[in-house]
Amino acid sequence: LANGVARAPPMGWNSWNHFQCAIDERIVKTTADALVSTGLAALGYKYVNIDDCWGEWNRDQRGNLVANSSAFPSGIKALADYVHARGLKLGIYSDAGYRTCSKKMPGSLGHEDQDARTFAEWGVDYLKYDNCYHDGSKPQDRYAKMSYALRKVGRPILYSLCEWGDENPAKWAGSLGNAWRTTGDIKDNWDSVTSIADSNNIWGRYAGPGKWNDPDMLEVGNGGMSLEEYRSHFSIWALMKAPLLIGCDIRSASRETLRTLGNKEVIDVNQDPLGVQGRKIRSKEGLEVWAGPISRRRVVVVLWNRSLSRASITVGWREVGLSPVNPFSVRDLWEHSFVSMKMRFRLTAYVAPHACKMYILTPV
Ligand code: DGJ
Repeated sequence: LANGVARAPPMGWNSWNHFQCAIDERIVKTTADALVSTGLAALGYKYVNIDDCWGEWNRDQRGNLVANSSAFPSGIKALADYVHARGLKLGIYSDAGYRTCSKKMPGSLGHEDQDARTFAEWGVDYLKYDNCYHDGSKPQDRYAKMSYALRKVGRPILYSLCEWGDENPAKWAGSLGNAWRTTGDIKDNWDSVTSIADSNNIWGRYAGPGKWNDPDMLEVGNGGMSLEEYRSHFSIWALMKAPLLIGCDIRSASRETLRTLGNKEVIDVNQDPLGVQGRKIRSKEGLEVWAGPISRRRVVVVLWNRSLSRASITVGWREVGLSPVNPFSVRDLWEHSFVSMKMRFRLTAYVAPHACKMYILTPV
C-alpha cells in the first residue's frame, strides 16, 4: 500500500511470541526502554507492538474500545506518548471479526471507522489486524474496510494483515496493506522455521517497498533453538525481506541473542532500498542456496545447511544471475570480514548442521 510507510520491511518488537496474553503497561514501557538501552532502536527496531489481549472485555457506552483497566491503567494514549518520547512508535492489534483470537476483547468488524479514529487519537502508528470470529464473509472485503478507515484518519498507520486464507493474501493485499501473513503461526522450533521459510518463499514476486510478505515474527532468543538455528532463522527472514519483529523478552536477552538481532550487516540486507525478496535458488538433501539482488548491483547469498551433518555448499555466479567471469568481493556477514577481495566463478563454504553462511557479493 502506497501510504508512505514501510518503504523497507517494518522492524520492532511484538508482545505475542513471548508473553501471549500476559502483558501490561510496565512490560511495554520497560521493553521500549530496553530497545533504546541495548542499541536495537538505533539499528532500526522502532515499533513497539502490543498484540492481543490489551482491551477490556466489552466496548464502553459510546461503543469505543478501551484498554484493560488492570493491565493498562494509564491507557494507550499515555503509552504512545511514552514510546514517542523515546523516538519509538507504538503498534496495536485488532481483529476483522466480532472477537479477537484470544476471545478476551471485541474485534473491529462493523466498527472500522470508529476504531481507526480511536487508534489515531491515541497516537498509534501500526495496526496488526487478525482474522478470528468473523461473519464468514470474504477477508478481501473485511480487510479493505479497515484499510479505507485507516486512510481517512489523517495519520500514517502501518497496516499489517494477519490472514492466510484459501486465497493467499499475497495475491490480493498489496493495494490494501503494508504487510500480510503468508502462513500460520510460527513456533519456537526448527521444523516451524524451515517450513514457514519454504511457504513464504513462493510469494516473493508480490513483495516490494510498502508491501511485504510476512512469515511471522521472530523467535530468536525464546530458548527453543540453538544459536546456529536462530542465526539461520534471522538470516533467511532478512533475505526474504520479512518484517523483523523481535519476539523475545528483550529486557533479559542474552548477549548472544542481542548480537544475533543486532547484526547490522544482516539488517542492512533486509532494509536495502531495492526491496526485492530473496528466494531459494537450489536445494538438494538439505543443502540449500538462497539469494537475491540488493542495491548497487550486489547480490546477497545464504548457504543454508538443513541437514544433520557438516557439509560443503557451493554457489556459482551464474546461478545467482551473475556473469561467471566477473570478479566479486565476498563479504561474510556473520564473520564481519572479507573472504576474498576478488573472486570469480564460484564460492564454496563448509557449513555446520542447521547453520548458514551469509555473504554479499560486490562487483569489483
Ligand atoms: C493469531 C496470530 O497469528 C498471532 O500472531 C497472534 O496475534 C494471535 N492470533 C493472538 O491471538
